Order: sequence, then C-alpha cells, then structure tokens
Amino acid sequence: RVGSLRRDLILFFYLIIVPPSTPGNISCIYHYNVKFTCIYEFGYVFFSISVKTKPPKIVSVEKIPGVKQLLNVTWDKPDPTLLDLNCRLRYRNTNSNTSITVNFTMNQNERRSSFNLTDLWDFTEYAIAIQCVGVESEIWSEWSEEKIGRTEQQAPSRKVDLWRVIESSPSAENRYVHLMWKVLKEYPSSECLLGYKIQYCPENNASFKMTQNTTDKVAKLLLTGEAYVISVVAYNSVGESPEATLRIPSIGEKSTFF
Ligand SMILES: *[C@@H]1O[C@H](CO)[C@@H](O)[C@H](O)[C@H]1NC(C)=O
Ligand SMILES: *[C@@H]1O[C@H](CO)[C@@H](O)[C@H](O)[C@H]1NC(C)=O
Ligand SMILES: *[C@@H]1O[C@H](CO)[C@@H](O)[C@H](O)[C@H]1NC(C)=O
Ligand SMILES: *[C@@H]1O[C@H](CO)[C@@H](O)[C@H](O)[C@H]1NC(C)=O
Ligand SMILES: *[C@@H]1O[C@H](CO)[C@@H](O)[C@H](O)[C@H]1NC(C)=O
Ligand SMILES: *[C@@H]1O[C@H](CO)[C@@H](O)[C@H](O)[C@H]1NC(C)=O
Ligand SMILES: *[C@@H]1O[C@H](CO)[C@@H](O)[C@H](O)[C@H]1NC(C)=O
Repeated sequence: RVGSLRRDLILFFYLIIVPPSTPGNISCIYHYNVKFTCIYEFGYVFFSISVKTKPPKIVSVEKIPGVKQLLNVTWDKPDPTLLDLNCRLRYRNTNSNTSITVNFTMNQNERRSSFNLTDLWDFTEYAIAIQCVGVESEIWSEWSEEKIGRTEQQAPSRKVDLWRVIESSPSAENRYVHLMWKVLKEYPSSECLLGYKIQYCPENNASFKMTQNTTDKVAKLLLTGEAYVISVVAYNSVGESPEATLRIPSIGEKSTFF
C-alpha cells in the first residue's frame, strides 16, 4: 500500500508541480496514512491522498427480546482498521424512502460496535446501512450493504373507539344492540390485528359473562331488558389492547346520554 501511495505521490508531483517550474526542495509530512502536507520553496501545497476505507460490514440487526421499538445493530470496522473513523448510520422504514441519519465515531481500538436504534415503530421492517470516513480524510466509503430487521410486535396499545346504537324494542324483554368501533393506532405500524373480543354481562350479574370474537368492526347483540356492561378489546398474536367499555341502560331506564 505504501509503495503504491508513493507511486501516486510521484505521479502527482509530475502532473501538478513539475510544470510550470521545477521546485528544488520539497518536503512532505505524512500523517496517519491519510494526509500529506508538502512544502516547497515557493510556498505551500496541500493535498490529500485520502484513504477511502471499505464500507463497514453490518453483522446483525436484531430485536432485543422484550424491548419494544428497538433494534440492536452490530457492525465490524472496515479496512484499514487502524484509523479513527467518523461514521454515519442511515435507517429507514422499508415502506418509505425517507431515512434518518445518526453520527458516531469509532476509535482505532474498536473492532466491533453495537448501536441501539430506539423509538422505532412496532413490528416494522427497517433497512440499515453505514458508511465511514477516516477522521482526517474527506472521502467517505461506499454505503455498506443494507441489512434489514424487524421490530417486535406488541399488544395493541390503545383501546378501540367504541359506540353503540340500541334498536328500539317492541317488547320489554329483548332488544338488539349494535356495536361499532374504530381502531386507533399510536404508531403507524404494520401491526396486524387478529380480531376483537367482545364481553358483556348484566350490570348486576358479572358472573354471567358472555364472550364473542369477531374480525369485523361491528357486532349485533341480543340482550335482555336489564342494564349491561360491554367491553371490546383488539388482539394480536402478542396480546390484547386495553378495554373499551360502555354501559347499556335497562329498558325503561332514563338514558343519561344520547
Ligand atoms: C529545504 O526546505 C527546508 C524547509 O523550508 C529548509 O529548512 C532547508 O534549508 C531547505 N534546503 C535546501 C537545500 O534548500
Ligand atoms: C446486540 O447484538 C450483538 C450481536 O448479536 C450482541 O453481541 C450484543 O450483546 C447485543 N446487545 C444487546 C444489548 O443485546
Ligand atoms: C420511493 O421512491 C421510488 C422511486 O424514486 C418511488 O417510485 C416511490 O413512490 C417512493 N415511495 C415512497 C413511499 O415515497
Ligand atoms: C452528522 O454529521 C453531518 C456532517 O457529516 C452534519 O451535517 C449533521 O448535522 C450531523 N448530524 C447530527 C445529528 O449530529
Ligand atoms: C441497548 O438496549 C438494551 C436494552 O434496553 C440495553 O440493555 C443496552 O445497554 C443498550 N445498549 C446501548 C449500547 O445503549
Ligand atoms: C345471573 O344470570 C343468570 C343467567 O341469566 C341467572 O340464572 C341468575 O339468576 C342471575 N343472577 C342474578 C343475581 O341476577
Ligand atoms: C377470543 O379471542 C381470545 C384472544 O384474545 C382467545 O383467548 C379466546 O379463546 C377467543 N374466544 C373464542 C370463543 O374464540
């Protein structure tokens, strides 16, 4: 490498410095394999022979079990390794073209590093790439190959927005109650819901609890004339959202709402 640098250097002098006049006294300082400062009798010539490092190699992009919205990115330092490096890590949701960049440094002695990307969306795929530059250099490496990881899924974090319509009933014994709900997402994640669980029981008879699952966002319940308490949760493979609840007044009870 040094041999080839020296050859480049000599070539450089021929091309740039020899014409128009040949300087008689040139001395060069060689810094960290990265930059040359040359001085000759007519003044200073600064030029860099920058070492363009190879891109770092991303070893893994992993979630840490139990930690939400986080990816642990691990990479190896590029060659040549005996440099202090400034690096930047770029990550983007694979459904988007917009990426976020994080700066960091790697000192000479670090071979492998890890970095936590936090505040990510749940259950979302991210593409990650890194590039580096020697601290005294100006030429960035190419971007590393993109590596993809997916954040953990978590139980739906918000309750559904629930409302109901009570069908007016000809008898005092039964009535239909129509439930409708909307899903509210905290993060625009690709979180996939498996369905909704509806539970209802007479207000004063909690032991008589009925459960019904559906994948629709509506349900029609046939209830007796008593007052009822109804709850709806959304669920996915990890767990359930908090409960959205509402009360159905008994037939004949003056409704305080609506
Ligand atoms: C070459 O340049 C150096 C630094 O400017 C100076 O100290 C030295 O005397 C010069 N030598 C000759 C032979 O001109
Ligand atoms: C991040 O991943 C690397 C490589 O698998 C591992 O060595 C390191 O312990 C992980 N860090 C955490 C905090 O889990
Ligand atoms: C991303 O970029 C490609 C090509 O430039 C474009 O076709 C696509 O619509 C973009 N996607 C988004 C989500 O902006
Ligand atoms: C990262 O470094 C670039 C220059 O390489 C700078 O423009 C940018 O502001 C830095 N970003 C942060 C978040 O420090
Ligand atoms: C990454 O996150 C894990 C889990 O929260 C933590 O134990 C670890 O110390 C973090 N690592 C770094 C480098 O911040
Ligand atoms: C609770 O509901 C069950 C089933 O409808 C009924 O048999 C029981 O008598 C009720 N208990 C009370 C205290 O209302
Ligand atoms: C309804 O879904 C829940 C998941 O939240 C499950 O535990 C339960 O067994 C399901 N019940 C029925 C009747 O399918």
